[in-house]
Parts: sequence; structure tokens; C-alpha cells
Amino acid sequence: MQNEAAVLLMTEQDLEQVLRIEERSFTVPWTEKDFLDAIKNDYYCFVVSKFSDGEIVGYCGLYQSDTDAYITNVAVAEKYRRKRIAEKMLNKLIEIGNLHGIINFTLEVRVSNKPAINLYKKLGFNSVGIRKNFYREPEEDANIMWLYG
Ligand SMILES: CC(C)(COP(=O)(O)OP(=O)(O)OC[C@H]1O[C@@H](n2cnc3c(N)ncnc32)[C@H](O)[C@@H]1OP(=O)(O)O)[C@@H](O)C(=O)NCCC(=O)NCCS
Repeated sequence: MQNEAAVLLMTEQDLEQVLRIEERSFTVPWTEKDFLDAIKNDYYCFVVSKFSDGEIVGYCGLYQSDTDAYITNVAVAEKYRRKRIAEKMLNKLIEIGNLHGIINFTLEVRVSNKPAINLYKKLGFNSVGIRKNFYREPEEDANIMWLYG
């Protein structure tokens, strides 16, 4: 691999590469407008994982609600997976969240998504319940996870 990817705040210039990863990672991807609205909204914080040559290999975001935050859109480009990019990125996002007064973090994940569930467990998240038929394309239950500060 090249030198280590840096974790930086997402900007409008990042969106073309972000959308490419988003469309390959999710069956119901966010649109450019969804990301644009989010990065302009003070309650959201999105970061990207970027190499010094400008290549973006991952991103993730959160939505703040007082001292809680909802984590959304965690993805890493396929050829860069299993290199601890998501782990580093999420740790940074949580660190930024803590600086903004966030204590607890939550997310939903497809019950079949073992890589992501393992990732969140490694970061200290616990499963607290199931949201029935939360996802479409394909329909599936969500595992609700929380990381309490
Ligand atoms: C889930 C995802 C973001 C993980 O990204 P990643 O950069 O490959 O993950 P990391 O290398 O940081 O892995 C950290 C930990 O997660 C777990 N993990 C990650 N990928 C895994 C896999 N394929 N199988 C089992 N565990 C896995 C492991 O515990 C790993 O720790 P380890 O390296 O000590 O074993 C990536 O697979 C992805 O983009 N998937 C498609 C989009 C998606 O499903 N997003 C989550 C939606 S909720």
C-alpha cells in the first residue's frame, strides 16, 4: 500500500469519488444531493480516508442529536478493505464527536453484514436489539448497536 491514508473532513470536491464507492457498496445508495445537504448541515460530520495523491478509499459520517450521534454511510473501497481503514476512520469520527460533546453513538447494520458487525464490536459497540424489516433491496432486519461513553 502507499503511505497511510489521512482522515480528513469531507468536502464538496470529494463527492465524485465518494459517490463511486457509495454506489458500489450499497443497494440503496445516497445521492450527490444527500451528501451535499449533509456536509452543509451543522448537525452532520463526514470524514474521508484519503491518500496524499488525493485518492479517497473510504468515508463515514454521523448525525448529532445532543449528546448522542447516529453513525451513517460507513464504506471502504473494495480493493482497500481489511487494512484497518474503517477502524481508523471511525475512531477519528468518534474522537471528533467527543470534542463536540457527543457521548453515545448508535447505528443500524444488516443482520447478515458480519464484516461490519465485527468492525463495530471491535470498536466497543454492543447489539441492543433488532429492527424488523428495516432494510429494503433486499428486505432484512437491522441489528441496532450502541457505544455508550
Ligand atoms: C464494513 C467495512 C466498512 C469494513 O471496512 P474495512 O476497512 O475493510 O475494515 P477494517 O480493515 O478496518 O476492519 C476492522 C475490523 O473489522 C472486522 N472486519 C472487517 N472486515 C471483515 C471481514 N470481511 N470479515 C470479518 N471481520 C471483518 C474485523 O474485526 C477487523 O479487525 P481485524 O483486522 O483485527 O480482524 C467494509 O467491508 C465495507 O465498506 N463494506 C461495504 C459497506 C458496508 O457494509 N458498510 C457498513 C454498513 S452498516
